[in-house]
Amino acid sequence: MKFLGLCGSLRSGSLNAAVLRSAAELAVPLSEVAVDPGLGRLPFFDAEAERTALPAVVGELRAAVGAADGLLIVTPEYAHGTSGVLKNALEWLVGGGEVAGKPVALASASPAITGGDRARAWLAETLAAMDARVLPRELRIPQATLKITGGRITDEPTRAALAGLLDDLAHAVAEARADRGRLAS
Ligand SMILES: Cc1cc2nc3c(=O)[nH]c(=O)nc-3n(C[C@H](O)[C@H](O)[C@H](O)COP(=O)(O)O)c2cc1C
Repeated sequence: MKFLGLCGSLRSGSLNAAVLRSAAELAVPLSEVAVDPGLGRLPFFDAEAERTALPAVVGELRAAVGAADGLLIVTPEYAHGTSGVLKNALEWLVGGGEVAGKPVALASASPAITGGDRARAWLAETLAAMDARVLPRELRIPQATLKITGGRITDEPTRAALAGLLDDLAHAVAEARADRGRLAS
């Protein structure tokens, strides 16, 4: 199975990017997590440009999302919401329709004890509006600076929880395939 990892932080030392890095390592050999090169390359969403001259990078993102069996989205929490970078990417993805019906796993890492809960809640709401299949289990990583060091998750219970989330995502992909098969027959 091929999963695509999207990160809402552009920081080189991002805790959330570290979660994706660890997910890519944990996923093999059963599945593969390809990490998107960075949502900061996207221009701000513009409904007129979408109609008249879709930016090539948006076409590339839509194709990558469309080709993935499932998405793993990791978000920082900024001012009690998700990041503008991630919201912007989702706005570009609304019109493409690639997210509809797609299994999506959510994770957030924050130095705070709230673990990015409010950012994931925002994301889940937006993704529901896009008809994504958001997994009921989400991964919250509070006090993340104690659990992520050297760009990887080093806390064993957190690594195990991430592995569990990837397992859930694989099951959701299998379920989505079975549903499509039933509809087609
Ligand atoms: C402008 C700004 C607002 C923030 N707001 C919150 C917040 O509301 N809740 C929270 O838990 N952390 C907040 N933080 C701290 C971020 O969680 C922290 O910087 C985190 O490391 C960002 O994610 P990253 O490491 O993946 O870049 C904020 C940080 C910044 C710079």
